[in-house]
Amino acid sequence: MPQVTVTEQLLIHQKESPMATGRFTRLLNELILSAKIISREVNKAGLVNVLGFTGETNVQGEKVKKLDEFANSILIYRMQRSGLLCTISSEENADLIQVPDNFRRGDYILIFDPLDGSSNIDVNVSIGTIFSIFRRIEEDGPVSLDEVLRKGSQQVAAGYFLYGTSTMMVYTTGDGVHGFTLDPSVGEFLLSHQNIKIPESGKVYSVNEGNYPYWDEKTREAISWFKSPSNSRKKPYTGRYIGSMVSDFHRNLIYGGIFMYPKDSKDSKLSSGKLRLMCEANPMAFIAEQAGGMATDGINRILDIEPTELHQRVPLFIGSKNDVLKVQEIYGQN
Ligand code: AHG
Ligand code: MN
Ligand code: MN
Repeated sequence: MPQVTVTEQLLIHQKESPMATGRFTRLLNELILSAKIISREVNKAGLVNVLGFTGETNVQGEKVKKLDEFANSILIYRMQRSGLLCTISSEENADLIQVPDNFRRGDYILIFDPLDGSSNIDVNVSIGTIFSIFRRIEEDGPVSLDEVLRKGSQQVAAGYFLYGTSTMMVYTTGDGVHGFTLDPSVGEFLLSHQNIKIPESGKVYSVNEGNYPYWDEKTREAISWFKSPSNSRKKPYTGRYIGSMVSDFHRNLIYGGIFMYPKDSKDSKLSSGKLRLMCEANPMAFIAEQAGGMATDGINRILDIEPTELHQRVPLFIGSKNDVLKVQEIYGQN
């Protein structure tokens, strides 16, 4: 059976929109190539001294792993030279990364988490890369922070690469969610999951329950609901938590379920949640909604949140619609 590659699918899509210039297709192709390089390094990580820490601490106060640094450098290097971007923001960099004057500038803004799930790198557990793309507002000139701090509903594309038992790419351009699996023998992402739809209600809840002592009452109540034999399923949900959001989200996208990272009082710096709005929550929320699911901070739709800082954190409840609605209902009760 002939299999569609991701590039073919992007070209078909491009032909369907008369205004398309091909630049967006090239942008995604550049990202795909970077992800293939990261995937190759991840696959041989145990062999080539890329495990462990670099000895540095990133903008988030987290210890940087060598593979985090590798993925970040590859993405910045390639994307800065693509001629398609006006600015870049990475989870690992405090400020916007501008395109040097000697490179051509484009009209897209790229925001990414180069490696998500860093704590799993050294133990051969699935990790990922997350990306979010906006089109710039101004015609030309340097990009200000205000131009980047936009709500997620303005994203033109978002997706992730999952370095798991196979490497996958899942993305949306606002026209459904499509999944491709890397065939290593030909080096191509082949269409494996067309028009993914998340089940309306799930069977799985995913949360770090070690944070239980630091949750507020409403959060404890919401999570208890999923474990209760008297919930709407009439039996407890199954608990699954990998600790890589990309992997936890991907499983729930396919099987149905809810991924939660509520705010907690463990660390005062993270009092508004751990996950980052712009490089983690927004792209995943765009995918969740396009697949028929939902993403909220417990009260507000993630894609409607106006960011005030590049590295702003948010609580996140994402996945099957009825499961996310349940959390909202509990948070909304007096
Ligand atoms: P990152 O590796 O990019 O810093 O992100 C880690 C995030 C996310 O992937 C995951 O869901 C969460 O942190 C896990 O956090 P806990 O270890 O606190 O559960
Ligand atoms: Mn992350
Ligand atoms: Mn990361």
